[in-house]
Amino acid sequence: MILSASILSADFGHLERDARAAVEAGCEWLHIDVMDGHFVPNISLGVPVMRGLKSLADETGTLLDVHLMIAEPERYVEDFAEAGASVITVHQEATPHLHRVVQQIKETGAKAGVALNPATPPYLLEELLPDLDLILVMSVNPGFSGQAFIESSVRKIRRIRGLIDTLGAGALIEVDGGVKPTNARALVDAGADVLVAASAIFRGDGSISENIAAFQQAVLRTA
Ligand code: DX5
Ligand code: ZN
Repeated sequence: MILSASILSADFGHLERDARAAVEAGCEWLHIDVMDGHFVPNISLGVPVMRGLKSLADETGTLLDVHLMIAEPERYVEDFAEAGASVITVHQEATPHLHRVVQQIKETGAKAGVALNPATPPYLLEELLPDLDLILVMSVNPGFSGQAFIESSVRKIRRIRGLIDTLGAGALIEVDGGVKPTNARALVDAGADVLVAASAIFRGDGSISENIAAFQQAVLRTA
């Protein structure tokens, strides 16, 4: 299980400090939520802020996992790749030219991901699945951290795991939204490879490292 710490709930006044704490506690990926106030009803951050994390990522071998919740993502793929993105995920719902954007991402050398909103069925990815490095299952409606996990996402993860295994495809399954130590084991059991967490890591009950340890223990405990 890879834990991707979503910086959306970090202290932006001390972003490097919080991101470093997450990496040192065992997060192999940092999840960067980019919102445009159009595709989703919130505005978060963009390329300049991400660039500020590049030296930490380079120094520690951390992957910058960029989740683009923006309309017309094809306009910005190269900018995020140049800023240090290792994974670039676009939304299925954000472009009619998904195949083209996926190829565009791969040409930059980044891994290509596609995110599905809660209402979007997995079969829409069937055609493209062999080309994908990652499928991001949104387990909340995108736009904000701190929302409640949508329980039907577990069944959706299982269905996507089945599709991937049937096709012999290599895509990772990432889950994003309402992920906590209390549901982490069920998500991994359903087939998730990467868990994203914002509030449970940066605004949980303990310190950042204690909150990350709680995830690690939850996944190991009932394995
Ligand atoms: C929501 C973002 C998530 C968010 C998760 O649109 O894509 O990455 O930061 O926040 P939590 O873990 O608090 O649900
Ligand atoms: Zn996200």
